[in-house]
Amino acid sequence: MPSHYSRTQIALHWLIFLAIVVQFLFHETIAGVWRQMEQGGTPPFEPLAALHVFLGLAILALAIWRLVVRLRRGAPPLPEKEPALLKFVANATHLLLYLLILALPVTGALAWFGGISDLGEVHEALFQALFILVILHILGVFYQQFVLKTNIIGRMTRAG
Ligand code: HEM
Ligand code: HEM
Repeated sequence: MPSHYSRTQIALHWLIFLAIVVQFLFHETIAGVWRQMEQGGTPPFEPLAALHVFLGLAILALAIWRLVVRLRRGAPPLPEKEPALLKFVANATHLLLYLLILALPVTGALAWFGGISDLGEVHEALFQALFILVILHILGVFYQQFVLKTNIIGRMTRAG
């Protein structure tokens, strides 16, 4: 197991985070365009909807890259101080986060390019799941940082 996350892993973690924040901030536009399309209309070109599709596909590419690096290189072991139950929760959360950053753009793309209406609903539900998990993830990071004092944030901000 490596002793730290690599520069690439750290850069990908924060790039994907930023891109997801942008997706969240501007989600109303694509949701509005999608509603109009579902009602059989032809909505006018909306740059923010195009941005959603473009950025979503970029997240998919970055997430695949990230997963490949993770499978090849691995990740540093969780802090020793961490109780076994929390280690389990952390591993399960990380796995689900990886799955969601892949499944979200895939369902979005299949809905958008394949016109599969139900997948729009799935896409929306997956985003809600992501939102909840990210909050859990941040709470876990804060618990590590400020209660167990493992300097976990340093692991995702400095390589080596
Ligand atoms: C990780 C990447 C992505 C994130 C975080 C994301 C996030 C979101 C969010 C928050 C909504 C609004 C849901 C709602 O309130 O109705 C949404 C809707 C939508 N997104 Fe994405 N999206 C991503 C990728 C994509 C991609 C790659 C595409 C298409 C190529 C896409 C197509 C759509 C469509 C068609 C909707 C409307 C569906 C609906 O509102 O039911 N998304 N997305
Ligand atoms: C969209 C939002 C986010 C996603 C999808 C995400 C995803 C992930 C994943 C999958 C890991 C595990 C990495 C691995 O072991 O391969 C991780 C680790 C980490 N994340 Fe996030 N993250 C997000 C937001 C944040 C935020 C806002 C913070 C800051 C509070 C944060 C801090 C960390 C830290 C410190 C680690 C390292 C944990 C460790 O060393 O075991 N993440 N993140």
